[in-house]
Amino acid sequence: MSTYSHIIGTGSAAPERVVTNRDLEQIVDTSDDWIVRRTGIRERRISSLERPENTAEMATKAAREALEAAGMEPDELDMIVVGTVTPDRQFPATGCMVQTALGAGRAAAFDISAGCSGFLYALNTVHNAVRCGAAGKALVIGVERLSSVLNWEDRGTCVLLGDGAGAVVVSAGSDNGGILSTHIRSDGQFWDLLYAYYGENHIPDSLDHLDAKPFKLRMEGNRLFKRAIGCLTEIAVEALEHNGMTSRDIKLVVPHQANIRIIQGMIRNLGIPMEQVYTNVDRFGNTSSASIPIALNEARREGLLTPGDHVLLVSFGAGLTWASAVIRWSMEAVLSEAEDAVGCAINQAPAAIFPGP
Ligand code: COA
Repeated sequence: MSTYSHIIGTGSAAPERVVTNRDLEQIVDTSDDWIVRRTGIRERRISSLERPENTAEMATKAAREALEAAGMEPDELDMIVVGTVTPDRQFPATGCMVQTALGAGRAAAFDISAGCSGFLYALNTVHNAVRCGAAGKALVIGVERLSSVLNWEDRGTCVLLGDGAGAVVVSAGSDNGGILSTHIRSDGQFWDLLYAYYGENHIPDSLDHLDAKPFKLRMEGNRLFKRAIGCLTEIAVEALEHNGMTSRDIKLVVPHQANIRIIQGMIRNLGIPMEQVYTNVDRFGNTSSASIPIALNEARREGLLTPGDHVLLVSFGAGLTWASAVIRWSMEAVLSEAEDAVGCAINQAPAAIFPGP
């Protein structure tokens, strides 16, 4: 008998602090008008050291919400896979910190670094582990604290990125459906279009540098922009063809939320109307690995997904990496009483405070 992998819970979390485009006008030479026109972003969430909002803490909060939605206890988990490029520490893995915070003592836990495709790479790993019997129940998390690696003097990048976390619970099941396919791709020859750097060297060459903030982010936005639309389109078409589908079979596209113009470019190529695309880039900016699971959780809680719907997930990011998943949705549309009571963590009234980090 075949084993299928089903998403049975989703959750997300985001820092309280909202940083608007107007706030950013105060620290770099930019404008709300430019940011909205070129990216579609109006605000983003930025974590604070005064609250439990570091990478592991956001990941744990999102994971708890996903487990709650799945009606599952942490000790039932066999695996925790976290997609992130902004762990709190170089090691150990964020997954291990989440494991102990949850009390998921049986799970094998580890991280995956695949830029903004981290969540879909992690989903791919779990999907394959479930299908071959290596795991029965698993958590897949995408989490970023990009504010910790941002250069807040670089207007070309600091206006784009934000912090947050999203999670899904994947479970083995005998019912046909669930995750139908995952595809992952990389092209390392373009790694230098987007990376974190530490001066010119990776090892500090004088004691002065030891106090410096370890990593800053550098990006060639325009060259990335052009590649993003092509790669997203290509992997979406590959995913549809693999499943014998056309774009008409897709109920909802949940793409990586980097820039509304990238999403529109891909969607135009696929011939899918924008009404069938979930976007929240206006409220979160680009949260890298976290963007797809946050959007998926919001879409589910807004009642946009019912059992039998086909959902297309697509991402593109540093590496370069790009990835897709096609899901025949199998989770009930109705929120449980517990979920209703808890509410969606990211929709709670935010604290609008600046200056930032
Ligand atoms: N405010 C005002 N002006 C800005 C600005 C800002 N925040 N950032 C850049 N500019 C300026 C540039 O300096 C440039 O000025 P110049 O013409 O005088 O030199 C001008 O705007 C155009 O810059 P350019 O980089 O060509 O703009 P763009 O249309 O490509 O938009 C991005 C820039 C970053 C929004 C866009 O390239 C993008 O979204 N790229 C992909 C980013 C991405 O997805 N990264 C992560 C991978 S998932």
